[in-house]
Amino acid sequence: MPKRPLDHRAGMAAPSVSPPSPDARTPLLGGLTPAQFMRRYWQKKPLLIRGAIPDLEPPLSREALFELAQSDDAESRLVSHLRGRWRLDHGPFEADEIPSPKRREWTLLVQGVDLHDDRARALLDRFRFIPDARLDDLMISYATDGGGVGPHFDSYDVFLLQVHGKRRWRISTQRDLTLQPGLPLKVLQHFEPEQEFLLEPGDMLYLPPHVAHDGVAQGECMTCSIGFRAPSANELIGQFLYYLAERGELARSQAGERLYRDPHQSAVAHPAALPPALVAELGAILARVRWTQRDIVSFLGSYLSEPKSHVVFDSPDRPLGEAAFVRAAQGSGVRLDNRTTLLYGARSYFINGEESALPRKRKWLLELADARRIEGKRFVTLSADPSMTALLHEWYRAGWVRVGAFS
Ligand code: SIN
Ligand code: CO
Repeated sequence: MPKRPLDHRAGMAAPSVSPPSPDARTPLLGGLTPAQFMRRYWQKKPLLIRGAIPDLEPPLSREALFELAQSDDAESRLVSHLRGRWRLDHGPFEADEIPSPKRREWTLLVQGVDLHDDRARALLDRFRFIPDARLDDLMISYATDGGGVGPHFDSYDVFLLQVHGKRRWRISTQRDLTLQPGLPLKVLQHFEPEQEFLLEPGDMLYLPPHVAHDGVAQGECMTCSIGFRAPSANELIGQFLYYLAERGELARSQAGERLYRDPHQSAVAHPAALPPALVAELGAILARVRWTQRDIVSFLGSYLSEPKSHVVFDSPDRPLGEAAFVRAAQGSGVRLDNRTTLLYGARSYFINGEESALPRKRKWLLELADARRIEGKRFVTLSADPSMTALLHEWYRAGWVRVGAFS
């Protein structure tokens, strides 16, 4: 097949790809069903999938990726390996800070491309057989010959999808994960590869957390990483207590504003010593802290649907009024903006960090959350419910929902 330069890819509309259903075999997982993949491989062992996405085109051209790395809307890093020395720089970059594609052994990594590009978002959507609460983002790395980030391990699961050129991956389930000291990036001190694969466009490698890996570009190369998030117990405890405190729930079971009293405090000879009664009081207060299952769901939904700190929503310049919005949506449907996270529990839904009670007629909302879109024809049926159209119009005005399919 003739080699196609990265920058000559014709712009195509993003296909609207639904995630495979849990029991349908899919080439994405090498002919396994998502249910089988989750049982046999997820968080357990690596899987190489040849031709996971046949005829795959890079979601972004090289130039579009370089442009994204120049804006402060996206997190980007530049890694180079010069005369045996690793160097790491953080974006945004000036155009002339990005090395020439003719230079060897450098790589540019851009995080969260799905927030900015419909084709990248569509790629991420293929992995929605895993809960949104676990899905993080789509990162794209561009590398020139010999480029890579060195042998390392990640703490999260990752699907490494080759989208342009070739990359040689070497992987190892080694126990020794000691890092080289004093480097600007995580590079393993002793890497003992056990398996080696040459990935071509459309091939994919799934790695569970802590599997050591090293991907080296063979010629110009682009790789998409579908990344996951997994909060630590520390993060969950800290954030949950903060959430309860903010809502005044921490002191719900006790008189929250009541001040500490010590009518029995005796005179002290050692004023700097903490009074034991105060220590005991705090212990008693903490032992009385209570929460419910509902508090846990409310916290998780709000916390996990919160946009990342650099996300800004763009409201439409000249928003349609509600009637015109409904007519437009009946024609071409609605979809969640790429930056929107919509999750739900048994009683509430959570959109971009805000919790609300599920409406009495909720089917449309659950459909929108699971599919991230409502087709025009379906919208016609659903729009008989004025509370649905009013709420969607509000979200459209906030820039959380868009009219039409992928642009
Ligand atoms: C890369 O795409 O170059 C790095 C991805 C990874 O190793 O996690
Ligand atoms: Co990695």
